[in-house]
Amino acid sequence: MKIGVDYYPEQWDRSLWQADADLMAKTGVKLVRLGEFSWSRLEPSDGQFDLQWLDEAISTFSRHAIGIVLCTPTSCPPLWMYETYPDIVQVGADGKRIPIGIRAHRCINAPMFLYYAKRITELLARRYANNPAIAAWQIDNEIEAYPCTCDVCRNQFRDWLLDKHDTLENINAAFGNSVWSGEYSDISQINPPTDYPKAWQNPALCLEFSRFSSDSAVKYINDMSQIIKLENPRAKVTANICFTKNQPDLYKLFDSLDFTAYDNYPPIIMSGDKKASHAFVLDLIRGVKQKNFWIMEQLSGATGGWTPMSPTPRPGQIKGYAMQAMAHGADTVMFFRWRTANKGAEMFWHGLIDHSNVPSRRFKEFADLCQTAHKLSVIETTELVSDIAILYSHDAHWAFGIQPQVEGFDYLDQLRYFHSAFARYGVNIDVISPTADLTKYKAVIAPAMYIYEKNAAENIYRYVIKGGTLVMTARSGVKDQYNNCIMEPLPTVFREVIGAEVTEYDPIGGHEQGIKDFAGNKFKCRQWCDILELTTARAYAEYTDFFYSGSPAVSMNRYCSGVAYYVGTVCDAEFYESFAGNIIKQTGIPRLKDLPRGVEVTTRTNGLDDYIFFFNNSDKEADIELPKAMFSIIKGNDMEKLHLDPFDMEIVRK
Ligand code: GLA
Ligand code: ZN
Repeated sequence: MKIGVDYYPEQWDRSLWQADADLMAKTGVKLVRLGEFSWSRLEPSDGQFDLQWLDEAISTFSRHAIGIVLCTPTSCPPLWMYETYPDIVQVGADGKRIPIGIRAHRCINAPMFLYYAKRITELLARRYANNPAIAAWQIDNEIEAYPCTCDVCRNQFRDWLLDKHDTLENINAAFGNSVWSGEYSDISQINPPTDYPKAWQNPALCLEFSRFSSDSAVKYINDMSQIIKLENPRAKVTANICFTKNQPDLYKLFDSLDFTAYDNYPPIIMSGDKKASHAFVLDLIRGVKQKNFWIMEQLSGATGGWTPMSPTPRPGQIKGYAMQAMAHGADTVMFFRWRTANKGAEMFWHGLIDHSNVPSRRFKEFADLCQTAHKLSVIETTELVSDIAILYSHDAHWAFGIQPQVEGFDYLDQLRYFHSAFARYGVNIDVISPTADLTKYKAVIAPAMYIYEKNAAENIYRYVIKGGTLVMTARSGVKDQYNNCIMEPLPTVFREVIGAEVTEYDPIGGHEQGIKDFAGNKFKCRQWCDILELTTARAYAEYTDFFYSGSPAVSMNRYCSGVAYYVGTVCDAEFYESFAGNIIKQTGIPRLKDLPRGVEVTTRTNGLDDYIFFFNNSDKEADIELPKAMFSIIKGNDMEKLHLDPFDMEIVRK
């Protein structure tokens, strides 16, 4: 397993490079990421290039056998370019150009930006693509589906729509433009959503614009990647992504890239509503290509800069969170950043080494991680194989962003509730595309399949028909592909497999009410209540309050050789745990019993040997008894009992 760091030679005095490289080598760092914000140093003025310093930086590190992850610098064009071509700057939803001088404000469709971006990428590719020191390439930085409304994007959006829908009449029909006299009589009347509240805009237009913006990001990244591949078809090329409100379609984005890379900042304090385990996100990132992935940026210190500072990582978190990523399929973890910046907006987003340049507690923990990582070569050839899949849809994610439904409802949370519940039983979980091959899974959870996607719906039916166990939830089958409501009882296209229909729904938001399952167990529910009428299904749980007390809330339907559950409400964690326990039992998925709360278990396998990861994702010590003595690949001896300090990881061979 490889540990790396993000480093900014352009931000440090040259006299430090050598000392830094020495310390990296001594510590066990195997990779260094360079260059993603350095355009003004690489091309100080139009067509004047200076790559000498980069050559030197690369050789400073490669002399120490540290591999280079070279980034294209295109996320930060130099100011001279903005000055000469002011229209390469993105335009916001308010119609105004975004203020420049910060970062990432280029429009990725602007022709002059693309001219320069391709030129610098080509130059770097020609110079370095065949240099053995280069381990991988990162295109740009944290690409987003920018909702740019500049003239170029506006015109491309119009063409994109015409290409997809053929005629203006079709666009009018798809958008339902007879509402409020919104019918287009000329293509020039089509505009991206404005900064007027989303609630007043056409949801169909908004969803198509999200898709267009995502396609733009995908095309941009692929075009840049091609430039590198032309120089060296075997070059490993990726992009680093994070979760943003302008999320591009990750399945499409990484389709032709070599591996997925994610910027991982897990919560330092695990309390409050939103601080769930990052295990979910890591499973989602692995699910993008259904392959192992890289962490391109990993939490190194207190975060802060444009936000107030967070607490500093607790003892164990620097090492533990990196190993948690490995437990979920990361084979390389790069830390952001080697040393905290002492200049610029991000000077309080802490790196491994503080402003003082004196390695301290966090650095020592990092050094310890590097030592441990060396012992883990046996797991480099292993992968996670899962019995359970949770489906993650970009269309649904965008559409819920456009119309958030009800107070407290968050799309990713709908997936997280099930993820956390199944994780309590120590099982592997894949978070994957609704169109991925489902045949190998014993259970598939499809929360809030809000937008009708033909291939996904067929995939789900096929899965259940052939004997699969499906779990679907409220807000499924609500919209057609253009984000318009389907005129059929909910869950519309899924009614047959679910064997029940929604006679009325109650968006209760923050109010709370109760449900009772078939065994008499009581749970709380909130946000949303679908009142069900069963056709072929049986009730699994019913409501206990309000005017629909006694109506089914959760149902179970046998359909062909399979079973389909429908959870019509949003429940407390106890419900999901009990429900997940039942699904695991019904489907015969092997599980672990009585895991201490906070302990996360995953298994990586090479087909012959299974390696079980026990991660204590809590600030309390945990003790676990194994069913038999197993060999710890960290400690190098057999163990029957595990004692885990907060954020500690143990890996045993089964
Ligand atoms: C993102 C960016 C980095 C840095 C970090 C921390 O992940 O890619 O350049 O800004 O956030 O703030
Ligand atoms: Zn634009």
